[in-house]
Parts: sequence; C-alpha cells; structure tokens
Amino acid sequence: MNPQVTRNGRPRILTGDTPTGALHLGHWVGSVKRRVELQSTHECYFLVANMHAFTTRVDLSAEIRRDSIEIVRDYLAMGIDPKQSAIFLQSEVPAIAELTFLFAMLLPFNRVMRNPTLKDEIKIKNLGETYSFGFPLYAVGQTADILAFRPSGVPVGEDQVPHLEMTREVARRFNQIFCKVSEHAEDSDHEKLGGTFPIPHADVGAVGRLVGIDGINKMSKSLGNAIFIADTPKEVQKKVGKIFTGRQSPTEPGDITNALFQYVDAFILDPPRVAELKDRYSRGDNIGDGHIKQEVAEALNKMLEPMRERRRQFEGDDRAIIDILKDGCIRANQVAEETLAMVKDATKLAYFPRRLTIG
Ligand code: TRP
Repeated sequence: MNPQVTRNGRPRILTGDTPTGALHLGHWVGSVKRRVELQSTHECYFLVANMHAFTTRVDLSAEIRRDSIEIVRDYLAMGIDPKQSAIFLQSEVPAIAELTFLFAMLLPFNRVMRNPTLKDEIKIKNLGETYSFGFPLYAVGQTADILAFRPSGVPVGEDQVPHLEMTREVARRFNQIFCKVSEHAEDSDHEKLGGTFPIPHADVGAVGRLVGIDGINKMSKSLGNAIFIADTPKEVQKKVGKIFTGRQSPTEPGDITNALFQYVDAFILDPPRVAELKDRYSRGDNIGDGHIKQEVAEALNKMLEPMRERRRQFEGDDRAIIDILKDGCIRANQVAEETLAMVKDATKLAYFPRRLTIG
C-alpha cells in the first residue's frame, strides 16, 4: 500500500487556522478555497488552533472560545462540508500536545528562534521581548499538529511555508533517529524506508497573499484592511471603493499589478473580461478605477451570497457547531492516537496500550 494514501484510498491533508475572529477574503483565496476543492478527492482534517490563540491572548479565553466557534461558522459558510471533512479543536487532541514535547527535542532552540514567520509576528504584533515561552513553542506545536496526521500535503498561505520547512525537518530527523532512515534518503522515500512520517509538502494557494484594501499590507483583521466573509453587500461595496491605487484619472495609464488588479485577478472569473480590463487600464483608455471597483464588488457579492446564505443556517446555533466539532475530534483522535502509538513504538516509549474516549 502506498503509505501516503489512506484506507479509503484518498491522500490525506491537514491544515488549520488560529481563531482570531471572522475570516476574510485573504483566508479564502490563500487557503480555504483550495480546501473546499480538495475535500472531494482527499481525506481532510481542518484544525482550529485554539491553543495557539492562547500564545498571545492568555487573558482572553472567553473570546478565544467565541472565535473558535465563529471560525467553524465561517468554514461551513465557505463550503467546508463536515460530512466529508473533519473539523476539530487542537485542544481536544491530546496526542498533539504529547508530540509537541517530543518534537521540541528534535529542533535546536536557535533554529526555532530563526523561523522567519515567528520573527515577523514578533515585529507585527509588537511582542517585544516580553512574549511568553509558549509563543515560540507554538511553532514546534505546529509541526505536531501536522505530523500527528501524517499528511501528504498541507494547504496553506505563503506565510506558513517556514513552519512547513520546520515540520519537514522534524519528520526527517525523527525518521533518521528512530527509524534508521538514511540521512541521504530522498524525502519521497522516507515512509518506504520504514520512516514513521511522510515528509509533507506545503500546498500554497493560487494567491498566497492577498493585499488588503489599504493597497499595501497583507489582508489582516488586526490591520483593519480586511473584507470579511460575513460582510453585507453594502459593506463589501464600501470597502472595495476604498482600495488604494494612487491613480488620478481614467486616462492615466494604470499599473495592472496594483492592489485593485490583484482583486480583478482573484475575483473576476471571466478571463476575456479580465484581459480587456487590463488592456484598457494599462493604456489609460478612459476607464476609471471607480468602474473597475464596481465590477469587483459585484463579483465579490455574487461569490459571497451563497456563503451568507449557508452562514444564516448556523446563526445563533452554537450547539450545532459544537456537535460538528465533537464529531471532528472523534475522527481526528483516531488518526492522531494511531500516530502516537507508532511514535511510542519507534521511540521505545510504548509500555502498554491506551484508549481515548470522547463524549
Ligand atoms: N499558524 C497557522 C495560522 O496562524 C495556523 C495553524 C496551526 C496551522 N496549526 C496548523 C496551519 C497546522 C497549517 C497546519 O494560520
């Protein structure tokens, strides 16, 4: 059996998000859209990284709980189907915490601290020197989130690629130390050679990074430049109207790599129309930013309408969301416990079997 293909014959993927509030278009184009596509061909696990939320908001646990439920509503709105895919809470899969401690031994401390995504976050979130020990530990934890599922691929946005690189290092080192896989083995051969873990690859979405409506920074809730999945048609229209281009007049030759055209490319799903807009814009052929913004807003609202509709079905019904999470946690623990048992075998930590019960 090809080890990267699961019992049901589908390759397995795992990905997740830290619950920080409502999801926005950056999440959609960077990752969630790809997940929706993959769920009919892959065995999918989608993790709500609620423990990671504690790294910077330990005093806000009620808010984290609310955000964790809200993010599931957004997943469902965007078309993730809980019958096909397991949506689960990181905190309810204990194997992840156990693997985190072990994997921390496989990564040099300085290697973790050199992770560029961590360094960026320290800067962007102004964490200074006062961040908790748990903050850099989350990057180790993320290697465990992923490897607990032994996935072949991890659909993520570009900013997560350094975490995937660390995950690949952990998987290689584990297989080398505990499973006698040669240092010279190809990544794709690790499982064949007896390694516990596949070396998973990052599957970066078509638009790895969507610029926010400020036209400068990556779309992000905390920067106030985001269009949310749950925004009303009016809000969408208003926000699109604010996308900054700096262009002065409809006859000024425009730059088709600007922020507005990133939206044209990502959301106007009519290639001949996109080509026409680009041609006229770059020549300054009497086409105003306002006109293009109108078309972008219309395309967005058309895309968002079915999402709003699905969202309405779960509005106010936390119980239904918790039931979906419970089912997802049961499925996630089946795989994660199996991985943990394999890890315990390989590391000589297996003393007796253990069974986990939920519910
Ligand atoms: N760090 C990711 C983010 O902030 C969330 C995350 C946690 C994740 N665990 C993961 C993503 C495992 C992919 C795989 O968006």
